[in-house]
Amino acid sequence: MFSNLPSPQQDPILSLSLAYRQDQRDKKIDLGIGVYRNSDGVTPVMDSIQKAEQIVLNDQETKAYVGMAGDEEFNAAALNLVLPDSGITERAISVQTPGASGGLRMLAELISFSSPGATIWLSNPSYVNHQPVMEAAGLKVKHYRYFEANSKQVDVNAMLDDLSKAGAKDVVLLHGCCHNPTGADLTHEAWKQVTLLAQKNGFLPFIDIAYQGFGDGLAQDAFGVQHMAANLPELLVTSSCSKNFGLYRERTGSAIVVADQKNHAMNARGKLLQMARSTYTMPPAHGASIVKTVLLDKELKSSWMTELEQMRLRLVSLRQQLCSELATKTNSEDFEFIKQHKGMFSVLGFSAEQMIRLREEFAVYGVNDGRINIAGLMEQDLTYVATAIAAVR
Ligand SMILES: Cc1ncc(COP(=O)(O)O)c(C=O)c1O
Repeated sequence: MFSNLPSPQQDPILSLSLAYRQDQRDKKIDLGIGVYRNSDGVTPVMDSIQKAEQIVLNDQETKAYVGMAGDEEFNAAALNLVLPDSGITERAISVQTPGASGGLRMLAELISFSSPGATIWLSNPSYVNHQPVMEAAGLKVKHYRYFEANSKQVDVNAMLDDLSKAGAKDVVLLHGCCHNPTGADLTHEAWKQVTLLAQKNGFLPFIDIAYQGFGDGLAQDAFGVQHMAANLPELLVTSSCSKNFGLYRERTGSAIVVADQKNHAMNARGKLLQMARSTYTMPPAHGASIVKTVLLDKELKSSWMTELEQMRLRLVSLRQQLCSELATKTNSEDFEFIKQHKGMFSVLGFSAEQMIRLREEFAVYGVNDGRINIAGLMEQDLTYVATAIAAVR
């Protein structure tokens, strides 16, 4: 049965982590894998999450099955976090998924079922798992221009130019905020322009929002989702609780469908549940119980928001400090773009060779596509990392 299987391909980011762990040098810096780290280099369990988890443990009476859609109170709270407008939520549904990864796959399958072989447009570049997930669900993948190598910002005109070729049967995947890997986000104006194009050409936007609260703030980061939902008949969204609740391994996320009318959204929900039934049947409960406990309790929600804001401000401050170190080391403003990028990642614009040099000569581990995780920086390493970047630029 299995003798004809090809040997597995290495995941570039996971093999980078392995190489980092095996590196024997005293000074080594991991800017590879996409997890938030605090100033001690730890991916913390947030205080509000610990408190909520204790409440969940104290109050739980059973571990009986929940249901294919997961926890409905979580679903309502998670929907409210990205789409607080009750006018829109009336024609929307949300089901709990195993992380946003599960949401991506479920929604891709929904597209595939509704429109077999449809084309989905991904930004160039995009999150490393987008293309495999979309193709695994049977979708055709095309790319639209996004990141402009010189300015290290979004080339909105090129993006709109490419998306003008996306037709009524196409889907366009967008990052809600904190674009992975580049860190370059759409401005409000650009969101409005893409929305106008979707109205004109009829393509369906699909927003992946995995870092809400890490960019400009919890409410601000949902601007794109909210603007599109308010101005378009249909929208797909997947949201993640991995980063902003620090619940990575608890696999907690949502698949959201906004439709032109409630009964169409309910039909989409029915299909999603049928697909859940034939794959994992129902999502894991623990992470969703924690998120629900946080979001439904005024005090816990407020402490969670404070902690999240502190994480966001740490990222902003690290970006500023790295920029000023780089300005000193290079005697230039070449790296100012790092300050304008949002969230955990920035693409430096380095080639794979330069990234390998960073690794081999300085034990600074970033991804070969030039992505570094700003949250992997510790304050005491900023000068060292800036020296390394300046040396290989
Ligand atoms: C853009 C993007 N989407 C989705 C995910 C998957 O998140 P989750 O852990 O919720 O599956 C990630 C994780 O890195 C991501 O960066």
